[in-house]
Amino acid sequence: MILPLLSVAMGLHGPGPCLMAFMKKYLLPIWGLFLAYYFYSANEEFRPEMLQGKKVIVTGASKGIGEEMAYQLAKMGAHLVVTARSKETLQKVVSHCLELGAASAHYIAGTMEDMTFAEQFVVKAGKLMGGLDMLILNHITNTSVNLFNNNIHDVRRSMEVNFLSYVVLSVAALPMLKQSNGSIVVVSSIAGKIANPLVAPYSASKFALDGFFSSIRAEYSVTKVNVSITLCVLGLINTETAMKAISGIIDREPAPKDECALEIIKGGALRQEEVYYDNSLWNVLLLGNPGRKLLEFLYLRSYNMDKLINN
Ligand SMILES: NC(=O)c1ccc[n+]([C@@H]2O[C@H](COP(=O)([O-])OP(=O)(O)OC[C@H]3O[C@@H](n4cnc5c(N)ncnc54)[C@H](OP(=O)(O)O)[C@@H]3O)[C@@H](O)[C@H]2O)c1
Ligand SMILES: *[C@@H]1O[C@H](CO)[C@@H](O)[C@H](O)[C@H]1NC(C)=O
Ligand SMILES: *[C@@H]1O[C@H](CO)[C@@H](O)[C@H](O)[C@H]1NC(C)=O
Ligand SMILES: *[C@@H]1O[C@H](CO)[C@@H](O)[C@H](O)[C@H]1NC(C)=O
Repeated sequence: MILPLLSVAMGLHGPGPCLMAFMKKYLLPIWGLFLAYYFYSANEEFRPEMLQGKKVIVTGASKGIGEEMAYQLAKMGAHLVVTARSKETLQKVVSHCLELGAASAHYIAGTMEDMTFAEQFVVKAGKLMGGLDMLILNHITNTSVNLFNNNIHDVRRSMEVNFLSYVVLSVAALPMLKQSNGSIVVVSSIAGKIANPLVAPYSASKFALDGFFSSIRAEYSVTKVNVSITLCVLGLINTETAMKAISGIIDREPAPKDECALEIIKGGALRQEEVYYDNSLWNVLLLGNPGRKLLEFLYLRSYNMDKLINN
């Protein structure tokens, strides 16, 4: 039902004036109601107590959205271990978390360019909290908004820090997450769903997250691993880093980072597959991509997974 509607809306069939009028009159309001219901029902289900006493890791938590998530989780009474490179900033974040009501709060500083650090970080964090319920992967390496300058080092660093370390962290956390029926929350971007110029290495790493984590989500579903994976697709958010990077290049109104942080936590707690957060309702609507979901469903039917599971 939604599929043909979408392709019409996107102009693929070149709708006539009559159809356009029909759409404007009936379909858009219905769509709006559907979306309103969808968001309303999702919001109603969430209760901050869901995070009370939960053991949560937040990466890239020294500033921006990650810092904001740490504060929100602290207010909800979660146990926290945060990480980033800068020790001084993390120290401040941890003391503020304790003031806000965190059940406990610790930091471990290090760089996610180092995969050994990534792996050991998760083990240490698990020991500090005595387990793990939610792994929030949020850090990114510094990125310039610019034409691709043929610098292979930038591509490698983006793939390693923004993608490979996420895989390493998840693998290290999986035994604990299996025990708790826990959640992996992957922070991505609209640039990880559609192509944007000026951020090629960043975009590549964010697309990679979608490919990898959506693929293992399908595997978990078949192999009955009860660990949820939430991919968060964010539009422009008003963090200092982002505002500085796009200044004078991209002219768009950013969305607020505190609300963004809350939506990510909600999506993780409700075990949603994807969270879309952006100023524009149209973006949120079109990013859902029902064509892809339908194809994924149909492809899965031709797999004989039983053979693999029994091995
Ligand atoms: N802001 C936006 O407009 C926007 C839009 C779409 C998606 N997102 C996504 O949202 C997430 C957070 O973005 P943000 O704007 O909040 O970023 P941010 O404010 O720049 O924060 C990035 C965090 O990552 C840490 N970090 C940087 N390099 C690191 C490294 N090598 N190893 C470990 N940690 C490192 C930083 O701390 P240190 O420097 O101390 O290490 C900082 O805590 C990212 O995944 C981003 O892709 C943001
Ligand atoms: C990122 O930071 C490193 C070191 O701090 C610097 O050498 C590099 O040029 C920066 N890269 C970008 C794309 O800003
Ligand atoms: C995880 O889920 C299974 C199946 O629903 C349940 O039997 C088990 O008690 C749960 N474990 C925890 C720690 O919640
Ligand atoms: C998976 O874990 C969640 C959270 O503990 C629980 O609500 C759900 O019932 C579990 N699902 C299955 C299929 O075991």
